[in-house]
Amino acid sequence: MPDFLDIDKIEREELLEILDLAVDIKSKLKAGEVYKPLQDKQLAMIFEKPSTRTRVSFEVGINQLGGNPIVLNNPDSKLGERESIYDTAKVLSRYVDLIMVRCFSHKSLLELAKYSDVPVINGLTDASHPCQIMADILTFIEHKGAIENKTIAWIGDGNNMANSWIHAAKQLNFKLNIATPEELKPTINFEHENISWYKDPKKAVKNADLVTTDTWVSMGDKDYDRRHGLLKSYQVDKNLMSCAHKDAIFMHCLPAHREEEVTAEVIDGRQSVVFDEAENRLHIQKAIIIWSLKK
Ligand code: CP
Ligand code: NVA
Repeated sequence: MPDFLDIDKIEREELLEILDLAVDIKSKLKAGEVYKPLQDKQLAMIFEKPSTRTRVSFEVGINQLGGNPIVLNNPDSKLGERESIYDTAKVLSRYVDLIMVRCFSHKSLLELAKYSDVPVINGLTDASHPCQIMADILTFIEHKGAIENKTIAWIGDGNNMANSWIHAAKQLNFKLNIATPEELKPTINFEHENISWYKDPKKAVKNADLVTTDTWVSMGDKDYDRRHGLLKSYQVDKNLMSCAHKDAIFMHCLPAHREEEVTAEVIDGRQSVVFDEAENRLHIQKAIIIWSLKK
């Protein structure tokens, strides 16, 4: 099954194919070309957590491609609570052509994918956010050219976003410098020749082509005060950006908290590409949907 579950589970060539497809789909849309290859295809979207970008980009995306979205929102659809994940997977497979899921537990995603007879796309779990990182890579390529051999600096929490960057660095051969407090290091294995960990964010951003960060408290995290205490010296500000390449760009998957993980001066400044990044969720989502259905 051509599931889109994690970047490290997809061949490098397939990832490049999805990126190329996104570029093509985006140019078609910008040229006003109608492109509806998925007439009457049905996409179910399960949300256990809130969403703006993922919800809207998938919904607009499938509509633009000629298909139809069906949204199942928490609390109607908490996976495994009202019925087994097996039953949900089997039932949805009888109605729809594709399932996108945003859930708390990565195990639930894997279980749904295991029993589903239609492809499943990971729209974020506690462990990863692969659609976002694909959009980020597309945005990087648009602004800076090929990502291969470039340097990406991840600053802050070693969370689901950091994990998907780790997966991507292994597959797409760029250098990933991660700066997190010792206590908030990514929990997945990141030993790899392309990946370095630093406690000091200034060391991680040295020569970086992209500086990127995320909220200090992700959906489902409960230890707000502890996280703020640990992360306060990891704020991306003008001073930190000045240690990167002078033409480095800044990204944030959003939602952002100005003056916490990033200053307003940086996120609203000339190096920031956060709204291009958000827009690219639409184009990459459409490419991932087409890739999943054409296999
Ligand atoms: N970046 C992102 O996934 O945003 P939402 O949580 O709004 O979907
Ligand atoms: N790390 C964040 C990403 C939100 C898109 C979270 O999981 O809440």
